[in-house]
Amino acid sequence: MTIDVGSVDEALTTTRAVRLRLDLERPVDNDVIFDCIDIAEQAPSGGNQGSRRWIIVRDPVIKARIAELYMATGGEFMIGARDRLAGTGHPQEQVMKSAAHLAEHLADVPAIVIPTIIGMHDASGRPGLFDSVIQSVWSFCVALRARGLGSSWTTAILGKGDELAELLGVPAGNTQIAMIPVAWTKGTEFKRAPRFPAREIAFIDRYAHTWVSGPSDPPCLADGPGTVVEVDIQAPVDAVWPLVTDIGFGARFSEEFRGARWADGVDGPSLGAQFIGSNVHPAIGEWDVPCFVHRYAERSEFGWVTSDPDNPGAQWRFELAQIAGATRLRYSLVIGPGPSGISAAISAMPDKEPRILHRRIEEHRSNMQRVVEAMKATAEGDLPSTESNA
Ligand SMILES: Cc1cc2nc3c(=O)[nH]c(=O)nc-3n(C[C@H](O)[C@H](O)[C@H](O)COP(=O)(O)O)c2cc1C
Repeated sequence: MTIDVGSVDEALTTTRAVRLRLDLERPVDNDVIFDCIDIAEQAPSGGNQGSRRWIIVRDPVIKARIAELYMATGGEFMIGARDRLAGTGHPQEQVMKSAAHLAEHLADVPAIVIPTIIGMHDASGRPGLFDSVIQSVWSFCVALRARGLGSSWTTAILGKGDELAELLGVPAGNTQIAMIPVAWTKGTEFKRAPRFPAREIAFIDRYAHTWVSGPSDPPCLADGPGTVVEVDIQAPVDAVWPLVTDIGFGARFSEEFRGARWADGVDGPSLGAQFIGSNVHPAIGEWDVPCFVHRYAERSEFGWVTSDPDNPGAQWRFELAQIAGATRLRYSLVIGPGPSGISAAISAMPDKEPRILHRRIEEHRSNMQRVVEAMKATAEGDLPSTESNA
């Protein structure tokens, strides 16, 4: 049988967390849920053991009690967050609107499915528990989606896992994995969610080695080699953003970057603004490079290209994302496609191009790592923020 790739991809990419669009009026037969569990059971399991057990909750009294537990562990927070964020345009505004809606209507969802697995997670590193159930539950959600039903992976209730186990009679020694509300969806069109492109988070052969294209065999500058460093900072985005847009910040920590100054007439970061960066390298010497801000989104993204905006020697980017209680800072680089410090070395020794690229990437990566670590320490108050070279 030929698999219809388009349909499979569509199901895999549009199985969203459905909460606002659950149809609470339309009954859901057990048969369709059993069908989807049969499909989910085809997922792999450590040691080929069939240890997953599923509870399909239909009883209104039990559903109401589950809704109470959910309200206590996450629902009240979600409702508060929804009300606080309404109309602010905050990145979590829509998620909280949807999550709060589920919390308020959980008792009315036609079926609540609780997947469990025999065994307790003991952090032993042996296979067979979470890693034998997560993929199966996700298959269940995708199988539902393919049939026009929606679900949402939720775990907030596990904060009251003992009470939930007692309510459902789950024996000691079993682990509850998630709580999956199931209903027909209102409409069947769902979109892909914004995610990182694979080439920004998937590395070839070595962690954090990225390629805009290819890489060819052997790899070359035209493949757009690059790297990325990331750090989680226990401080709000507002505390990190001024460090990221302080163009001279890295000079105190990088072994190559010496400082930067805004071009004449430019008094700070904005789209199109120009600055001049100064660098030093034992093999290249000292040099200044014009930089052009080509990405600027307040409190979330600051990027620039070097030398020539139409044929840059390098493309640099800071990205900030708010994650639970912290800021994730991502600092990435793509070398080329235009000429840069390593072009002369490659021209002189074309047969060594892959090795030159590899070394250069590692050099950049360690300097970039120093810079983000320093930003973390500064934002978290472990390093004094002194005047930069800007
Ligand atoms: C481990 C995990 C726990 C989650 N817990 C909850 C939860 O308790 N309540 C909820 O409403 N959504 C929960 N979600 C759903 C996420 O909020 C949702 O996946 C995210 O907003 C992205 O939406 P999308 O899946 O439609 O792309 C959880 C998701 C995961 C993976």
